[in-house]
Amino acid sequence: MDLFDKINHRHGPLKDYAASSEGYYMFPKLEGELGPRMIFNGEEVIMWSINDYLGLGNNPEVRKRDAESAAKWGLSYPMGSRMMSGHTHKHEQFQNEIAEFEGKESAFLLNYGYQGVVSIVQSLVDRHDVIVYDYESHACIVDGVSLHLGKRFVYDHNDMGSLKKQLERAEKVIEITGGAILVISEGVFGMRGDQGKLKEIVALKKDHSFRLFIDDAHGFGTLGSQGQGTSYEQGVQDEIDIYFATFAKSFASIGAFVASTKEIILHLQYTMRSQIFAKSLPMPMVEGALYKLQLLRESTENKDKLWTIANALQTGLTKIGYNIGNTNSAVTPVYLKGSIEDARKIVEEMREKYRIFTSMVVYPVIPKGMIVLRIIPTAAHTMKEVDETLEVFEKMKPFIAALAPQE
Ligand SMILES: Cc1ncc(COP(=O)(O)O)c(C=O)c1O
Repeated sequence: MDLFDKINHRHGPLKDYAASSEGYYMFPKLEGELGPRMIFNGEEVIMWSINDYLGLGNNPEVRKRDAESAAKWGLSYPMGSRMMSGHTHKHEQFQNEIAEFEGKESAFLLNYGYQGVVSIVQSLVDRHDVIVYDYESHACIVDGVSLHLGKRFVYDHNDMGSLKKQLERAEKVIEITGGAILVISEGVFGMRGDQGKLKEIVALKKDHSFRLFIDDAHGFGTLGSQGQGTSYEQGVQDEIDIYFATFAKSFASIGAFVASTKEIILHLQYTMRSQIFAKSLPMPMVEGALYKLQLLRESTENKDKLWTIANALQTGLTKIGYNIGNTNSAVTPVYLKGSIEDARKIVEEMREKYRIFTSMVVYPVIPKGMIVLRIIPTAAHTMKEVDETLEVFEKMKPFIAALAPQE
């Protein structure tokens, strides 16, 4: 059989919707300035779909500095991987500054978050070790775990009883293999918006021997007194053995970092395949990250603005009768019941009639019959946009109820 013929007949949960959804529900083209009001299909919409938590993506000073840095360095410098020819004083400066900010001995700058996590996981364990990870972990954790040659056990999402059980299973395995245990959680789970129960996970260290790796993509910049992240917010940063965050959300850019002890960062630096065999982060991204870190240290203004918007939105949605689950982060999911077809109609009505742009999440990402409208507040939104959006959600109630009873 020809490979291309085979692929052309292969079905996939997302690909099957391509013909009916592309350009609208999937791969929409967003135009205009990045921010809370953008252009979709030629019309202005209130945008609740971009992870620019601190509103830095279109901040005039950030853009000015990005442009100056690009004019000075171009987008190529430095060339090559960090190990061979892509290391600079600026890369090192960022590592030192972020390590201090995160209260860790050392840090390493990563070219991409996704590949970074895959390689961190791969580098930390060998076939004798056991990974125990949360069921709702992001794809990059799942992919990292899939490269692991030893045992891996998944625990029910944020369920400490389940984690304890899996730790006991893992302990039986390492008794035979002589390996060790790595536990992985997210700081904030990006779909539901609930924080990982880091405090409770850390408490299990009293009776179980393991190291803890946190992917804090959504917590970095949004939680903790200065935006240091979820583990700071929960007061357990010292107990987080390996801390990771990406620049793709609060820093509105590309790149990421990992922070830990000196020895572990040294180990990662010389073993993470996605960093050794791929190009280094270009200078404007590094200088941009240094500036944004400075902003976090100097003021909590953007984080405070984000929380004013997030709190107003979350309180308002709950007040008018929507279920936003148990989010305790800026991520705001609206849980509805209905089919995929219902979800499409709801999103279309909101976009076409009311000019509100949210993302929808449906089966197979979540169980059949469930719909999540995912709303991401940012520091760039205004209360006017929150009020307009809440009014629309109020008006949408009969439309949604007519499609599927929400009981
Ligand atoms: C939890 C989590 N980890 C990692 C990543 C990947 O980061 P990046 O976009 O920097 O590759 C994302 C999404 O961007 C994420 O949500």
